[in-house]
Amino acid sequence: MTYEELIKKAIEAKQNAYVPYSKFSVGAALLTGEGKVYTGCNIECASYAGTNCAERTALFKAVSEGERDIKAIAVISDSDTYIYPCGICRQVIMEFGDKIKIIVARSECDFKIYTIDDLLPYAFSPESLKKIDGRCNYGI
Ligand code: THU
Repeated sequence: MTYEELIKKAIEAKQNAYVPYSKFSVGAALLTGEGKVYTGCNIECASYAGTNCAERTALFKAVSEGERDIKAIAVISDSDTYIYPCGICRQVIMEFGDKIKIIVARSECDFKIYTIDDLLPYAFSPESLKKIDGRCNYGI
């Protein structure tokens, strides 16, 4: 799978965006270690807070199908600037691996690649919880 092919999948997924409020369509495509692709779009909600970003839609689809090994996720919108995952999506991406490549694209052949450490430095992570467990583990 090439970056171009994965971005193309994100562009296709963008067509399904449900965006009656923002009119801002976003598509994402996630690649697993085994080479399987899960796509996602943003899905808005009249309560606004119920809105789900394209990246989380793709991630939740993959994880709910049993996937844990996530290699890359590409994201694209109709905007002519690169669209970066929001803070909540960054946190969820990190939950599934600090090696995931995050591809922000303007077109199939115009993209940038980041790691979650680039986008979410000093993150609160699953590791943080382990450290707390260790520290509290004293007997009385
Ligand atoms: N959105 C995404 O789907 N992904 C992003 O990375 C940024 C924002 C969506 C949420 C909402 O439906 C619309 O874009 C405007 O914020």
